[in-house]
Amino acid sequence: MKKIEATFIVNGNPYEIYVDSHALLIEVLRDELGCKLNGVHESCGSGDCGACTVLVDGEPILSCMTLAVSVRGKAITTIEGLAKGTELHPLQEAFVSNGAIQCGYCTPGMILSAKGLLDQNPNPSELEVKKALAGNLCRCTGYKKIIDAVLRVSKGGN
Ligand code: FES
Ligand code: FES
Repeated sequence: MKKIEATFIVNGNPYEIYVDSHALLIEVLRDELGCKLNGVHESCGSGDCGACTVLVDGEPILSCMTLAVSVRGKAITTIEGLAKGTELHPLQEAFVSNGAIQCGYCTPGMILSAKGLLDQNPNPSELEVKKALAGNLCRCTGYKKIIDAVLRVSKGGN
């Protein structure tokens, strides 16, 4: 398979690698950068569950459905890029304190979808939160605690 030289900017760090032209972004993030970003979760592998969500230039995208070469040079954010040292991002704090995490498999994708929303719209309505998270499935929590956690972080929350 043809290898292409590419630079990926992930969580603020540039990575220059050779990548298969058909490699998926999830494969590159988890296995090819040399830093094992295993917070990018794969579940369905077919665009249906949102577990693999990352941000590209601030927009949530499904890394299992995205060719890595299509996001060369763009700013990619994974869950590993949110905390500052030992200080969790406010969304991470809210998910923990609100009981919005059970098995945690959906959590990175949920939080990144929520971040994508709040960065664009810091004071969303409950309906806007539900719409932003509609592509992220959770088998455990029943969604209410997740939505409440996002609303707590929004400017309208407390
Ligand atoms: S693993 Fe990508 S949408 Fe399910
Ligand atoms: S916490 Fe288990 S899938 Fe969401």
